[in-house]
Amino acid sequence: MKIICVVGARPNFPKIAPIMKQLNKVDDCQVKLVHTGQHYDYEMSQSFFEDLDIPCPDFFLNVGSGEHVDQIANTMLLFEKVIKRDIPDFILVVGDVNATLSCALVANKMGIKLVHVEAGLRSFDRDMPEEINRVLVDSISDYLFCTEQSAIDNLIDERAHGKTYLVGNVMIDTLVDNLHRLKNVDGEYGVVTLHRPSNVENKHRLTDILIELNNIASSHKLIWPVHPRTKKCIEKFSLHQYTNYIDMVDPMTYLNFMSHVNSSKFVITDSGGIQEETSYLNIPCLTIRENTERPITLSYGTNYLVQDMSRLQIMVNHIISGDRKHTINLGWDGNSAKKIVNILRSENA
Ligand code: UD1
Repeated sequence: MKIICVVGARPNFPKIAPIMKQLNKVDDCQVKLVHTGQHYDYEMSQSFFEDLDIPCPDFFLNVGSGEHVDQIANTMLLFEKVIKRDIPDFILVVGDVNATLSCALVANKMGIKLVHVEAGLRSFDRDMPEEINRVLVDSISDYLFCTEQSAIDNLIDERAHGKTYLVGNVMIDTLVDNLHRLKNVDGEYGVVTLHRPSNVENKHRLTDILIELNNIASSHKLIWPVHPRTKKCIEKFSLHQYTNYIDMVDPMTYLNFMSHVNSSKFVITDSGGIQEETSYLNIPCLTIRENTERPITLSYGTNYLVQDMSRLQIMVNHIISGDRKHTINLGWDGNSAKKIVNILRSENA
């Protein structure tokens, strides 16, 4: 079996780690890893390879940042060259970032079987670039591996033509593998992460969010590893005066970040994956969004959607007083990557 796995941006790395580990255990499998280079800062990329023992990419496309069309088109051209050197049986993509879409399109155009891990998730919010990426990738995938039942239902509704499997969550495989390596972080605090264009690229929205976070931080310590996009926006809109109580730090490595989350009282985020990680760890999560493509985190996990900033402080107070959800069984057992690799082997036999 010849397979090419693709990563590009930060959330891809914890998802690919257990898949690479399982694929590398298979004797008759030639596995190659392509990094598109969508994320390139040490903390956004290389540090994850080190923390999670992901093998060095066989190909680094170095596409970098840029407008979406540029990023996608460049990735496609460079990825096609890699594929033409040695045509694989499968191309495997994870998640919903631009790297995922670009390489999925190349697989389809070159007639190579496409595997999508974390398929079927839908926010039904077409203004999110990731939502369009998800819908497009799923519509051309041959194998669709899902983390929750809602994803399977969405794929049925969309009449996706690929084979669909509920296998659990590869990102949680990584968390399970690394739980013993997480360190205790002292103190009572909340963790913040924010990077969605809808929250950070609009000056009024970002100002509202910062004012609320700063209010909260005046009585509850907040640690915020700031995403490069968000940092640029705070600078561009000159909003530093609204951050004086917040402990703003550089992006953290995987183990450092998960250690901080695991020891925290609550998390405030607009990330997708963090809603799942906090749910798994039974840490309350306030998601600054109108919707989530991961509804299991609302019904069985610890996640709350908070779009109206006037409610954020109230929600934090509830959580601190102990009025909060607790995780019920999410069905994520740490063996998803094993299941995926076994299915691909039997399909290729
Ligand atoms: C991308 C994904 C998003 C994911 C997020 C996690 C898409 C459409 N979006 O968004 O789904 O949740 O990654 O971070 O694929 N930058 C750096 N250094 C880096 C990487 C980026 O400075 O290593 C800067 C870039 O200059 C750019 C900004 O951060 O201005 C955003 O990077 P980009 O890759 O466009 O998207 P993200 O917002 O990170």
